[in-house]
Amino acid sequence: MAAAQPIATKTTGTFAHRLLAWWDVHGRKDLPWQHPRTPYRVWVSEIMLQQTQVSTVIPYFERFMASFPDVTTLAAASLDEVLAHWAGLGYYARGRNLHKAAIIILQEHGGEFPATPERLVALPGIGESTANAIISQAFDQPAVVLDGNVRRVMARHAAVAGPATKASVLQQLWREAETRQARHRAADYTQAIMDLGATVCTRANPYCVHCPVQDDCVALQTGSVSQYPGKKAKTRVRQKSLHMLIIRKPDNSILLERRPPAGIWGGLWCLPEGESAAELIDRFGIENVPDRKLPALEHRLTHIRMTIHAAICEPPANAGEVECNNHQCWFGADEWPLLGLPKPVQALLNDNLDGIIT
Ligand code: ADE
Repeated sequence: MAAAQPIATKTTGTFAHRLLAWWDVHGRKDLPWQHPRTPYRVWVSEIMLQQTQVSTVIPYFERFMASFPDVTTLAAASLDEVLAHWAGLGYYARGRNLHKAAIIILQEHGGEFPATPERLVALPGIGESTANAIISQAFDQPAVVLDGNVRRVMARHAAVAGPATKASVLQQLWREAETRQARHRAADYTQAIMDLGATVCTRANPYCVHCPVQDDCVALQTGSVSQYPGKKAKTRVRQKSLHMLIIRKPDNSILLERRPPAGIWGGLWCLPEGESAAELIDRFGIENVPDRKLPALEHRLTHIRMTIHAAICEPPANAGEVECNNHQCWFGADEWPLLGLPKPVQALLNDNLDGIIT
């Protein structure tokens, strides 16, 4: 975009009108996929631009077009050739899907590029926003785009609270984008709203003084730009300490208990677990204090950081009376490795019953 100049923002008119007036002066009009703006070129560019900046994409796009100038050449190429052109761009599933979609376009659409959002989203690698970005730019038909940049613009302009990962928030953002959509100049509008997000309504330090829609930007007018878009709540990681006993019989079998179906490791066999060693000793009637305390084991689950204190001990005198059932059972060294135990339990046993496992 040309160097940002403060512009007259008091321009009356719709959101689309003011945005297009700004884009006519400051927008990006010399991107390689805009000249010529064919459906094939727009499609390839939109796939490359997913999660990747324009400046990174340009040389890749140009090399790709030199080798695969149309959908027929792309479909006829080998996957390896296509991926060689993708090397360094990342997210290789995009390249694989592009190749797969080219073959589908040839085989199922007779080589004719699909011209409706419904047909486009049916192709691999094309979501609703990408389909609409292609339709609007390639066919100049109004179609709402909502990529990351546009979401941010909408969240701020309409003060949509909450993270876009929440379905109701995303739905609201789609509605806001739809309300502001231009009826004419569809291709330019799509490029304009993306350019605004990428160059003015940036994630950090947005250039609100240069924004063509600042007058009715609710976030700006209420001094709350930094609150939008809403961030996904960080899940709190809990710290949990737990105790386990490796109750080992002279024949090297160990006692395991099946965990309740709901909750962590639901339904898996596990070492007897409790809140303290004393509680466990008490519960099993173990006469001797555990004879071997093991080093604490750290284990991380998505929301829990657990420290497992384990000890090896001899079975209680009545061990022989414990009946094996679906909740509690003795397992030999040739049996427990086959049970699919929780990872830290497996580690505790592997590390500490070494030499015992047959
Ligand atoms: N990101 C996705 N599509 C884009 C486009 N056409 N221009 C700039 N950034 C984009």
